[in-house]
Amino acid sequence: MDSIVVRGGKPLSGQIEIAGAKNAALTLMPATLLSDEPLTLTNTPRLSDIKTMTLLLESLGAEISSLQDGKVQTMSCHGAINTTADYDIVRKMRASNLVLGPLLAREGHAIVSLPGGCAIGARPMDIHTDGLAKMGAEIDLKDGYLHAKADGGKLKGAVIDFPFASVGATENIMMAATLAKGTTVINNAAREPEIVDLATCLRKMGAQIEGDGTSSITIQGVDRLHGATHPVVTDRIELGTYMLAPVIAGGEVECLGGRMSLVASFAEKLDAAGVDVQETKAGLKVKLRGDRPHAVDVTTEPFPGFPTDLQAQMMAMLCFADGTSVLEEKIFENRFMHAPELVRMGADIEVHGGTATVTGVDRMKGAPVMATDLRASVSLILAGLRAEGETQVNRVYHLDRGYEDVAGKLGGVGADIERVPGS
Ligand code: UD1
Repeated sequence: MDSIVVRGGKPLSGQIEIAGAKNAALTLMPATLLSDEPLTLTNTPRLSDIKTMTLLLESLGAEISSLQDGKVQTMSCHGAINTTADYDIVRKMRASNLVLGPLLAREGHAIVSLPGGCAIGARPMDIHTDGLAKMGAEIDLKDGYLHAKADGGKLKGAVIDFPFASVGATENIMMAATLAKGTTVINNAAREPEIVDLATCLRKMGAQIEGDGTSSITIQGVDRLHGATHPVVTDRIELGTYMLAPVIAGGEVECLGGRMSLVASFAEKLDAAGVDVQETKAGLKVKLRGDRPHAVDVTTEPFPGFPTDLQAQMMAMLCFADGTSVLEEKIFENRFMHAPELVRMGADIEVHGGTATVTGVDRMKGAPVMATDLRASVSLILAGLRAEGETQVNRVYHLDRGYEDVAGKLGGVGADIERVPGS
């Protein structure tokens, strides 16, 4: 299995191009199930999660061509649809559950495997299924599969009050409602930029959606959706990750394609930590004002709050900060698996439930480390940029799910980093 080897201590300088958002692409791709005309996505990131979604959609009957080295995906669902999403594919990626809403809307029935537990917590699907039930779906769990059937073969509009602003549930219900009979209102909807991106694409396909980006989204069902071409929004998590690289390693990096509106709450914390973030014509330029960042307290929240998907990377920075920071994880119950690995590199971190207390240290030392999820893995690479000696990050398949060519991107701005093929 491949690993990434980083030798710390090299300041960074130059530009890093930020890719299209993994999480946006993973919800835009299932939208193809809503139409029998082609949907083309541009600015698609080249990631293994995109390949998994491709396999899943192909298993359901979609025809998909990947062009321009994977940056463009043309998808078409004009033929017969298979309405069973198999466990073998679904178990690899929770976002597979995003086919449930579109399948149910198009065919009136669907059988979708539950994704199962994952490394960062239980992540149930009750908000998705309760919402679909309000729209007239009957949903039973049999042998690990959700069997869903729309009453009378067609979903009906409904007013749905989410108990929590779930990203995936907002996306699933929004897609399902585009072809439902009547009007659906989602209250306490998620407001993430990926939701706005999905709504924008669905509108291009003929959907009638208002309020995306606010906590109340209204969808007026239509009879059919047509084809469209849509560029995937910039990946704010990849952006935030690379914004931290020069803060940790030293130097200055411009993240091309970055916009402040995508990372406002994160950039606010960076400012408090003593980091300059400047919006340029091409993106965001980042530089630490002193030698070490200041300690800052961070609580993860749904958008527009601080993203849980940047918590691990922020912790890597706070390991070197001047002072003690408190990180509170409010979205997932088990998302500090990177902490013990950072401690192995010399960090001073104490975890109690959903709270991590990080006391910054002057120096950390490279070590062989591994992580059990995507964002945790990249946080170890970030720490390795400053740690003395060599950090070897194993289980690179986690990284490949969400970061294209980490070694190439960081190496391009001067980091001493390489991908070492496994035996
Ligand atoms: C999406 C993102 C993920 C990000 C997360 C939170 C994608 C592909 N993934 O995941 O990277 O970390 O948003 O920003 O876009 N929950 C329930 N019942 C449900 C659904 C969710 O209890 O039916 C809970 C989950 O267990 C979790 C919390 O709600 O504790 C957040 O989940 P949700 O917003 O749904 O995240 P995802 O859509 O899975």
